[in-house]
Amino acid sequence: MRIAIVGSGYVGLVTGVCLADLGHEVVLVDNDTAKLAALQRGEVPIHEKFLPELLARHRGGRLRFSVDLAASARDCEAVFIAVGTPPTEQGDADLSYVESVARDVSGSISSYKLVVEKSTVPVYTSGWIRRIMLRNGAKADSFDVASNPEFLREGTAVTDFLYPDRIVAGSDTERSSKILRQIYEPLTSGRYYSEAHAVPRPEGAPTHLPPLMLTSAKSAELIKHASNAFLAMKISFANAVASVCESVGADAKQVCQGIGMDARIGSRFLNPGIGYGGSCFPKDLLAFRSVARECGLDFRLLDEVIRINEEQRQRFLRKVRSALWTLRGKRLAVLGLAFKGGTDDIRESPAILLIQALLQEGSQVVAHDPAAMPRAKEALPAAVEYAANPYDAARGADALLILTEWEEDAQLDLARLAQELKYPIVVDGRNLYEGSLMAQHGFTYYSVGRPTAAPEEHVGSIPGSIPKADRKEAVGAEGER
Ligand code: UDX
Ligand code: UDX
Repeated sequence: MRIAIVGSGYVGLVTGVCLADLGHEVVLVDNDTAKLAALQRGEVPIHEKFLPELLARHRGGRLRFSVDLAASARDCEAVFIAVGTPPTEQGDADLSYVESVARDVSGSISSYKLVVEKSTVPVYTSGWIRRIMLRNGAKADSFDVASNPEFLREGTAVTDFLYPDRIVAGSDTERSSKILRQIYEPLTSGRYYSEAHAVPRPEGAPTHLPPLMLTSAKSAELIKHASNAFLAMKISFANAVASVCESVGADAKQVCQGIGMDARIGSRFLNPGIGYGGSCFPKDLLAFRSVARECGLDFRLLDEVIRINEEQRQRFLRKVRSALWTLRGKRLAVLGLAFKGGTDDIRESPAILLIQALLQEGSQVVAHDPAAMPRAKEALPAAVEYAANPYDAARGADALLILTEWEEDAQLDLARLAQELKYPIVVDGRNLYEGSLMAQHGFTYYSVGRPTAAPEEHVGSIPGSIPKADRKEAVGAEGER
């Protein structure tokens, strides 16, 4: 099928290269000419596994680039809208880019066209897109508007697209459902996975063929907002439980493991930390809350999810103070700038927000991140120093803070780290280590929702630390290590 994708940001670019890999003819449209020129040269603007290979494989072949929305839309059977929907001051989703695309497409309809919402949008957006297109001259029977929300996560975007739990196709006519079925047939039939060039199935990905869930357009729009809100709620729940654990001396990792082993709950997205960030959860929660308000519903549960998330950063700051007393003039080594491991994205990153708060308290910050330092340098004050590796960052620092869950930062040479630091103090906002291991290496180790660990000789003088004899650390189920 010939498909135009408008907006080649995270969602648009990944969707475009993946649909090309499924065999479709794809044109990626964007009004950012510099971004398009870079893509045409084969440069990948985001840090995503498999994206460089897929771009190289299809660039100039099944994947083309254009700034000409009208021409691109005219030549295609389906137009996917993947432009930004940033939050307004009030927290609503700003849909002005979506509207301008709808207006532009309505003028270039020479044959039937399916317009597909790919960006995350509030329920009712498909209705508005239809109204705008009719208002701008499109004939009622010459197009349909459908919703096909994306659930990809940054860092695993390509495999999340190709190995999804489900594909949601929200459309209100048989004609549009048929087209969405055709577009995803290579996945739903399993045909794509038997092809030699198919992107390999990642560990932990669903083994079943992805079901195509046909719903109304409104239901599909709500599935996206509600899914993100539920996932964020799960994280805030885990963080709130971690706070209770801290007060009673229990172990949040054990507690969340125990909760998650109930198949009705599930273990994923129950990792306590310094709160969720990123370009999606924070803005989608605000947008969903606004949608609820417009429906006359005071969805206070969402307020609480947001409040716990913000409180989690304050709790972490208090923990740093309880480890170091005053922060003015203290040199702090920070591992992690991205909003999560595996990406260079710092949008709404809890790490960046915490660094800004620490700088305000007069601390010196020296940071390291495997991928996000270039973007962080643009966002953070010049006072922040950057180190080539975690050990250089730790050299002479009063303490080490772990703010992003990078796998490589969970396998550090602890003896070397202890040597580099001025004081063996680690405040871990992502629970990357076990307290006993850190204590063995002489660290006083603060984490989220778990007792502070310290070498035996220090236990008792450190608030929240528990003597070894009384400690029982998180392990897997009986017989599982
Ligand atoms: C997008 C949506 O913003 C978000 O709601 C959804 O959750 C995920 O998809 P993302 O892909 O990260 O997020 O957006 P962004 O990186 O901002 O990319 C949007 C692209 O659209 C940019 O490349 C921008 O240049 C382009 N754009 C924007 C257009 O081509 N035309 C416009 O009118 C506006
Ligand atoms: C999210 C959704 O997962 C995805 O389906 C949607 O399409 C876009 O938004 P993403 O923003 O890439 O994806 O990140 P995700 O992996 O969901 O993590 C979001 C935030 O929650 C990160 O800051 C992460 O560190 C945090 N998180 C995640 C936790 O604190 N604990 C967890 O258990 C899981």
